[in-house]
Amino acid sequence: MQGKTPIAVLASGTGSNFRALMLAVRDGRLSADIRALICDKPKAPVLDLAESFDVPAILVDATGLKRPEHEEKLLNALAPLKVEWLVLAGYMRILSEEFLKKYRAVNIHPSLLPAFPGKNAYEQAFKSGCKQTGVTVHLVSPVVDGGPILAQTTLDVLPGDTLESLTARGLKMEHELYAKTLESLFQRERKKS
Ligand code: GRF
Repeated sequence: MQGKTPIAVLASGTGSNFRALMLAVRDGRLSADIRALICDKPKAPVLDLAESFDVPAILVDATGLKRPEHEEKLLNALAPLKVEWLVLAGYMRILSEEFLKKYRAVNIHPSLLPAFPGKNAYEQAFKSGCKQTGVTVHLVSPVVDGGPILAQTTLDVLPGDTLESLTARGLKMEHELYAKTLESLFQRERKKS
């Protein structure tokens, strides 16, 4: 493998996408060096998951902080890591334009953007009665879920689907699409430098 792109993964919750990225690195499908898992929520399961993979788990607690204060802490935590990309994997906070001038970031969103931006996108899609939704990997811009799209996969809503069954199939797609898309992105970027 020619080089590894240094990254930090940012997550707020369960961490199934983080786990999938760790496994992709381990299996040689993703040439990244995951230098830390950064989380904004003190009790998020993803913190323990990172430890179980021997990845530094850094809590940058956002409780009670305004966005500029939290982002300053985030920048302090990131500085020693010397990462080239931030990979958002279920990170439930908006990053400001100022912050995004300092770091490039990628996000995964559980819908076919621009449809169903924002929270609970599987639920939004399920409740709308649409027959097809999907998964999007995009660059992060100051517009929530609005940055340039890198890759998408469609997900059919099947007769008899429940929100749970739809979400489970969607998450599986997320895990595959994210590692694949990041690998293409990082390879392209490394060729440029
Ligand atoms: C995923 O559906 C992701 O697309 C969305 O939040 C969820 C996080 O799930 N932004 P997990 O924590 O990776 O399991």
